[in-house]
Amino acid sequence: MQIIKTIEELRPIIKGWKKEGLQVGLVPTMGYLHEGHKSLIVKAASENDKVVVSDFVNPTQFGVNEDLTSYPRDIDRDAALCEAAGAAVIFHPEPQEMYFSDNCTFVDMDALTKGLCGKTRPTHFRGVCTVVSKLFHIVTPDRAYFGQKDAQQLAVVRRMVRDLNFDITIVGCPIVREADGLAMSSRNTYLDAKEREAALILHKSLALGEEMMKAGECDAVKIKDAIIKNIGTEPLARIDYVEIVDSETLKEVVSIEKPVLTAVAAYIGTTRLIDNFSYEP
Ligand code: PAF
Repeated sequence: MQIIKTIEELRPIIKGWKKEGLQVGLVPTMGYLHEGHKSLIVKAASENDKVVVSDFVNPTQFGVNEDLTSYPRDIDRDAALCEAAGAAVIFHPEPQEMYFSDNCTFVDMDALTKGLCGKTRPTHFRGVCTVVSKLFHIVTPDRAYFGQKDAQQLAVVRRMVRDLNFDITIVGCPIVREADGLAMSSRNTYLDAKEREAALILHKSLALGEEMMKAGECDAVKIKDAIIKNIGTEPLARIDYVEIVDSETLKEVVSIEKPVLTAVAAYIGTTRLIDNFSYEP
């Protein structure tokens, strides 16, 4: 497995693979990889001849007061995980390799990005769409793999691929959880022992909502209220949002009649975590 730091070095490798008729999978990440990322790489390796993992903490998707500088980084650990999972290349550029100092071109989206995480992170999805577009142009993959934990991101990327005619299949992969239910996230490393315990309230509360849906409850407001109330029992948790939305449009629903996404974002101490589940009535 190779660690490649420049676009100039990466392009001929990809072109060589394409000449041989090989299929290329891309797993975009911001590094500090965990079992959730590993599951994406393993899936990509099972469906493609070559897998590129991008490992880049993308500055344009962080807001001014967010954790860009403290975001955890460990390329040696990431390289070991990528190699074990079957990647051929890690693309690990510096920010100046990805963005010219006078960069002025961004990919933005009107729909899907205003609600949920977009409410408190108004420039986040512009950064995600921009960097993912750039990675798609650089790597030209046949397939790209994204986790369902970032459900809004997955919906946004799918829509961007449709709208901008990228010839790439987007593969959504299930959330990977710790044994006790906490959704895996690189940001879990910010939690101290008490907060780690408290963070379980997110999965527990979502599970409660899912049980209500499975038992036939259709009133989205009732379900949402039950989730909010349950999260409220944990003193270390502060809700950013709890929403039940149409899985495709991400618009709020009042009644569970079509596939829905129930998504939560909450601060546990100072760490903002997200989790969700999808339900088809
Ligand atoms: O999900 C992430 O880690 C990032 O948002 C992504 C897709 C790698 C873009 O920087």
